Amino acid sequence: MRLARPSDREAVLSFAANTWGGRDYIPDVWDPWIGASDGILLVATPVPPAGGPGPTDSDGRPLDPDRPVAVTRVAVLAEGEIWFEGLRVDPRVRGRSVATHLQVAELRWAVAHRARVVRYATAPDNEASHRLGARHGFALAGAWRRYGGDEEEQGERVDPERLLERLREAGLGLPDEPASRRLWSLVEGDATFHSGRGLYEYRPWSVQALTQARFEAHVRRGEVVVAHSATGAPALAVLPLSGGRPDLALHVGLLAGTGEGAVALMESI
Ligand SMILES: CC(C)(COP(=O)(O)OP(=O)(O)OC[C@H]1O[C@@H](n2cnc3c(N)ncnc32)[C@H](O)[C@@H]1OP(=O)(O)O)[C@@H](O)C(=O)NCCC(=O)NCCS
Repeated sequence: MRLARPSDREAVLSFAANTWGGRDYIPDVWDPWIGASDGILLVATPVPPAGGPGPTDSDGRPLDPDRPVAVTRVAVLAEGEIWFEGLRVDPRVRGRSVATHLQVAELRWAVAHRARVVRYATAPDNEASHRLGARHGFALAGAWRRYGGDEEEQGERVDPERLLERLREAGLGLPDEPASRRLWSLVEGDATFHSGRGLYEYRPWSVQALTQARFEAHVRRGEVVVAHSATGAPALAVLPLSGGRPDLALHVGLLAGTGEGAVALMESI
């Protein structure tokens, strides 16, 4: 295991660009990840068996000991909250404990950085990933459901600042600081927030705890919009700008409040 270097790009993308039928996002994030200061990008390189010939893949073909065969990233989302992402093992060496070794290295790094909690997300049917997590003490926190059509994923990229401006122009309330305590009680009292273990999606494709202090910071930055139904039922959405990757559309980090309020919120958008 070692830290990834910019020169590893070609080797890593040779096995990490076509996962899931060519829809892998690793080519899009390689540049931001290699230069990121909020975590580490690790690679694994093959080692020869003790006393034997050089390393080989599962079919006995030789492997270059300097060329990575796996990659993974560890990110610090907030103090004590660590996120694992982007784990990919070259199909030529899967099932030979490469991911297991990488995960041990990641966990050591997390412990050394005073992690209180480590989370990751994976598909419900990714058995290898679930087994890998279970092996090192991860427990299922919940199901992350997604609703939508494929065409949405191809959707137009919009400037998040401009979109937020449009939402305000559409009449969505932008709360001020004194209102934030009342709004926090809407979040705290929300059953979905509770069943989601108090987590929200600050940075796209990751989840972390939403504390009152973090919520109030979103209010101060103008990233919370509120709407009411005709009968006055409220709902709010946290639309984080600063956590978003600039290449992604604005996303909803959290929706809280009443169903009627949420419909009003959607209709205003
Ligand atoms: C998931 C992945 C990282 C596992 O890497 P790996 O090096 O093959 O994993 P390991 O050999 O360390 O095995 C880890 C566990 O998965 C199990 N496993 C490995 N391949 C498996 C498979 N195809 N089906 C079911 N279980 C599998 C192993 O038996 C082991 O579990 P155990 O300790 O209970 O026996 C690798 O298959 C991969 O890169 N897949 C595509 C990308 C991906 O799914 N990444 C994770 C997204 S969160």
